[in-house]
Amino acid sequence: MSIIKLLSKKQDKLLFTTPSHNQKALFNKKYNSFYLDDFSEIDGFDNLSNPKGAILIAQGRASEILNTKHTFFVTQGATTAILAAMKATINPYDKVLVARNCHKSVFSGLILTLAQVDWFLPENDENWGIYTQIDTEKLEATFKINQYKAFIMTSPTYEGINSDIEKISQLCKKYNVCLIVDEAHGFLNNFCDDLPKSAIEQGADIVINSLHKTSGALNQCAILNINKDIQNFECETFQKALNLFHTSSPSYPLLANIEACINFLNSTKGKKYIKNLLNEIENLKSELSQFGVKFYSNTNQDPTKILLQKQGISGFELSHIISNKYNIEDEMCNANSCLYLTGIGTTKGKLNKLKNALKKAEIKSSYEFTKLDFQPFPLVKLQPYETFNKDYTYVNKNDSVLKISNQMILPYPPGIGLLYPGEAIQEWHLKYLNNDVEIMV
Ligand SMILES: Cc1ncc(COP(=O)(O)O)c(C=O)c1O
Repeated sequence: MSIIKLLSKKQDKLLFTTPSHNQKALFNKKYNSFYLDDFSEIDGFDNLSNPKGAILIAQGRASEILNTKHTFFVTQGATTAILAAMKATINPYDKVLVARNCHKSVFSGLILTLAQVDWFLPENDENWGIYTQIDTEKLEATFKINQYKAFIMTSPTYEGINSDIEKISQLCKKYNVCLIVDEAHGFLNNFCDDLPKSAIEQGADIVINSLHKTSGALNQCAILNINKDIQNFECETFQKALNLFHTSSPSYPLLANIEACINFLNSTKGKKYIKNLLNEIENLKSELSQFGVKFYSNTNQDPTKILLQKQGISGFELSHIISNKYNIEDEMCNANSCLYLTGIGTTKGKLNKLKNALKKAEIKSSYEFTKLDFQPFPLVKLQPYETFNKDYTYVNKNDSVLKISNQMILPYPPGIGLLYPGEAIQEWHLKYLNNDVEIMV
């Protein structure tokens, strides 16, 4: 029986178990629907940490759909899936290569695994202020110099740029490196031919998907996928690693939501939904291009991430106007561009409102697009695991250059570090720092 059916069956047992709430909201009736399906691992409900029943069946079906060796359900977001993937594959003091545009959870994973990190800078586009793809020639040159246990990267990026995972996975196989792809933003790639191929299909060893970002699931729904051809790692090790980080009381509504989300996306209705969405986005783009709106385009870009500029207006100003005058909030903006995120749940009506707002947005200034700067190579003085619990003091930021930082600079979104603990502060960081800066002693 599926997890969804299990939850919809009437419970005839009197439960003297956790949770105590008896599937009813006592504090506020508005929350009643949250409580209805909230059970623990009662008889017949299986157990996420050692699944043998409904959860195992649901994971098995997901694995069939995604063509993986194993797909694990995670109810604590891609963050936990990333930590587990790293713990399962990296031993203390292993050298790993990490793309610098990875989410901060990878930095947490570096601390927890005691890994030795080398950073890899992806390409960038200064006109849009975004990271783009991994340059495979530079990657091979790096692999030639150092032996790494794993390469951890994000594809698609927050703005939807997909790297050539097929080529990267070939390189990783050639140099015996485990390829971990954070595909948090790219789950729809599995379900539509008009989108780039999924990382699993292109040969990545381990792929993390977030289902709540663009795929319509509730916050915290995520999965961890193991490639069919993986050789050096056992699926049991990933279960063991997940059990280290995952709550022992996973939410059944979230588990059922993961199952339902994957089933929907794999259905004819789900696939049609994605196609229609892509068509609507295409229409929006072609109409708006006559109104001074320019869209980021790249053959490897996921069109559900609408990244745009409007002539004469900075990204910050445009974001402000669209938000205050038209009540529409973007996902993220920088000096040159705004990002509007779409996905399962984005209706034609919603896109029309965005389209009309962007058409009408008045040009109040004559902003000239300037090239945006990107972080230079980080100066790593201490490995991430060496920085945790280290003593620190404060200095004035004007005296902080080349001192070892105890703090992060982490704009959110997208949650990509510009400075992490253990790295030397550079002139370039000063504009982001408050007067008192935490440095290591
Ligand atoms: C690329 C990327 N990976 C991982 C995460 C973490 O996802 P979650 O919030 O589901 O833990 C995020 C969240 O913003 C992200 O953007």
